[in-house]
Amino acid sequence: MKPKIMVLNGPNLNMLGTRQPEIYGYDTLADIEGRLRKLAKVHGLDLAFRQSNHEGELVTWIQEARTSCAGIIINPAAYTHTSVAILDALLTCDMPVIELHLSNPHTREEFRHRSFVSPIVKGIICGFGAHGYELAFEAVARLVGPKSGMRQVAGKKGRSAA
Ligand code: DQA
Repeated sequence: MKPKIMVLNGPNLNMLGTRQPEIYGYDTLADIEGRLRKLAKVHGLDLAFRQSNHEGELVTWIQEARTSCAGIIINPAAYTHTSVAILDALLTCDMPVIELHLSNPHTREEFRHRSFVSPIVKGIICGFGAHGYELAFEAVARLVGPKSGMRQVAGKKGRSAA
């Protein structure tokens, strides 16, 4: 069975393409998903790509990923700045987690500067627009993909491994 990557998208990201395109660009979430599906094939990985406007649903999907996935890429959107529940769910995951944002929240309003999840993720990609999803996928593929030395040598997917 191929290792699966869970890509999670938080509230309002279903509006990509029409939502503040000057900040988030013109690509839709479907465009992004299509590109990731191609990339997943190249890397021999499975992909679960989901979006929800509901915090609890995102928490449930993170819990599901604990047993079914080898890595998580998450754009928690506005929940980045508010959600202890998403942080707590991610803390139960013994696998690489990558935090992703289309924009660079640090160049925006002050309330976007704090992320509840940043302190516990493997890495953060932000500011590259939709292309950030591909960058994040390349990063996670290197960590968990079939060609990754880490899985075979260390046999561990833990947050601390390089
Ligand atoms: C975002 C940044 C968040 O501050 C914002 O609430 C979003 C999208 C991004 O991808 O740039 O909804 O996560």
